[in-house]
Amino acid sequence: MRKQTVFNQNWLFAARELNLDAPDNQFEPVNLPHSNQDFSHQNFDNQQYQFVSTYRKRFVVDQIDPETITFIDFEGVMLACKVYLNGLFLKEHKGGFTPFSVDLTKALKVGENLLTVVVDSQERKDIPPYGHVVDYLTFGGIYRDVFLWIVPALHIKDVFVKTANVLDDPQLTCDVTLSQNVGAVNLQAFVTDSKGNQVAKSQTPITGNFGKLKFEDLKEIELWSLERPALYTVTVSLLEGEQTIDAVSERFGFREAEFRADGGFYLNGEKIKLFGLNRHQTYPYIGAAAPKRLQQLDADILKNELACNVVRTSHYPQSPHFLDRCDEIGLLVFEEISGWQHIGDQDWQQISIDELETMIVRDRNHPSIILWGVRVNESGDNDTFYRKTNNLAHRLDPTRQTGGVRDFLGSSFLEDVYTYNDFSYDLREPTNNPHLITEFAGHMFPTKPWDNEDRLIEHALRHTHKHNLQMADERVAGAIGWCAFDYATHMEFGSGDRVCYHGVMDIFRLPKWAGYFYQSQQPASMRLVLKAATHWTMGDRSEGGSSPLTVFSNCDEVEVIIGEFNLGRFLPNKEQYPALTHPPFTIEIPQKYTAWGGAAFHDLLLVGYVDEKPVAKQRISANRLPAKLDFHTDTDHLIANGADMTRLIFRITDPYGNLVPYSNSVVSFEIEGPADLIGTNPFPLMSGQAAIFIKAREEEGVVQIRAHCEGLPAESLELQIIPAQT
Ligand code: GAL
Repeated sequence: MRKQTVFNQNWLFAARELNLDAPDNQFEPVNLPHSNQDFSHQNFDNQQYQFVSTYRKRFVVDQIDPETITFIDFEGVMLACKVYLNGLFLKEHKGGFTPFSVDLTKALKVGENLLTVVVDSQERKDIPPYGHVVDYLTFGGIYRDVFLWIVPALHIKDVFVKTANVLDDPQLTCDVTLSQNVGAVNLQAFVTDSKGNQVAKSQTPITGNFGKLKFEDLKEIELWSLERPALYTVTVSLLEGEQTIDAVSERFGFREAEFRADGGFYLNGEKIKLFGLNRHQTYPYIGAAAPKRLQQLDADILKNELACNVVRTSHYPQSPHFLDRCDEIGLLVFEEISGWQHIGDQDWQQISIDELETMIVRDRNHPSIILWGVRVNESGDNDTFYRKTNNLAHRLDPTRQTGGVRDFLGSSFLEDVYTYNDFSYDLREPTNNPHLITEFAGHMFPTKPWDNEDRLIEHALRHTHKHNLQMADERVAGAIGWCAFDYATHMEFGSGDRVCYHGVMDIFRLPKWAGYFYQSQQPASMRLVLKAATHWTMGDRSEGGSSPLTVFSNCDEVEVIIGEFNLGRFLPNKEQYPALTHPPFTIEIPQKYTAWGGAAFHDLLLVGYVDEKPVAKQRISANRLPAKLDFHTDTDHLIANGADMTRLIFRITDPYGNLVPYSNSVVSFEIEGPADLIGTNPFPLMSGQAAIFIKAREEEGVVQIRAHCEGLPAESLELQIIPAQT
């Protein structure tokens, strides 16, 4: 039977290339995921991560069974690396977004072993995405998880779970690939639901290295859907006589996902409009080296906070933790290969093809994934290359369609879905069916959280407008906006501070007003949203005033009260946005209440009504001076594994909890207990809010964090660090 160990702890790191026999004192201790460099959240250069570094790990092996093989799996090392064990070179890997395995067996010994990984994080033109300019950063280091596993020489290499006909007569098969040819062994498998109840089993003899398990006795199954993403697990065992040699478990779901010729996307036979955002894996301070909890949080934010039903993993395969979470919460995924507008030479293309293969083999059991992106984002036509990628994707996964993102219409259409970046203000006429908009907005209207009211509203309304148009157009399967979160970039892009302010949330994942639009599209029964897109001032807009007042809400009606004056109840703006489930409210405020030089200024009170009942309130103070330093984490505990992290979000608010947007106060933090603060401390705010991270050490205990901001009461909170499961 296989044994797998998480291999993330007790690494040593040196920010330069060192000889294999360099003494340990030239290294510093680190845990994975690890970034080769700490960053600010803006104003840093990609040169900072562009160097060769050396990672090493010493580990002890008590005994070696000659019948077994020992592998080490790297989920992601940016951008290329060479792996050595006990001085012996074992493997070179090029490409930072997909996993690879290294067979350690021939160099492994009883006693202490020394594993060395020399990591090249330079933007090498021979490796995707590089060769030309790229509008995102790749960062550096061993930035995803590492596992050590020991298996018998004969073991299960891959299990591809295939479902078919799920709506009428569900079929389930598993394609099982073994590590080597066998004379005669048996495969046995059983399927359990999320509660652990067995729902089906199967058995088949196997010769050669490939077997197909068919499950005849499938009991009533529950479909994987956006509302109820039911997951099942299949456990496949390899038996020699009575003895189990190896076993592997894979999670999957029963669902039918299809883009059809009528232009629509159908999930389980039901047409749904795709409504989503692009996601980069860029984080403040830590580059791309985000642990499981932060990866999961992004999926949660996209689905539960921003009400998206789809995400595009722009522009590369993303973390398994992110994809697992998409499966668990019912968030559809369009996953694509890495790159940006540029196609390199034959060797470069081969790396890209290998990446595509690894991505599909790694991810084809995720029910959330509905489309493979088999073109380099926004590259030109190259039929020879893209015939290969399309054929490969269809061969490796006949159950899914392909797309390939262009920024021009009418190109060679080798894929199944025409995936198109439509940066026009309105909608371009589709030239092929099915047609999915994979980007819009973005650089056409960069918006910083501290921009003035006019710009923040226009940013939000551009997203509103585009979604309204796509929702109304039957020829369009959906639209995925650019983008979820602001991200760090190269000097050729961004706002000069090396940040693209294209997110509907900032880089800390805190919403701009465009984020309120997305939030407001969820049913009121899930979460009530009532968010006024206003700083509520007399003088932040040109010519002054706060009219019209835009409110993003999923309530039926919104009542507006200014001081003691009740302006009445208002309906959503169906005229301008007829296709949206929850159009924003556009409310004319009579001049006398807010115009420059008008009457005395008063608090704004909004009351949201659903089914005639008042269900939500927002009060914004006329006195917009800071009243409180509000701060919280995303969780009340972290795991003592030396890598787990949570955000610590801090905001300067008015007396009613609304952000004071232009607060540039300095907030400082102190921490006590087994955790560290990661990020700028003290933090000079730019838009009244930001976040740093708290990172657990390897001891359990209680962590106390105190925050100070001049002129406001000091605040504190506690966090538990709980034992890591072994
Ligand atoms: C697109 C590109 C994205 C991003 C975006 C900004 O052309 O695919 O990666 O750069 O522009 O709007």
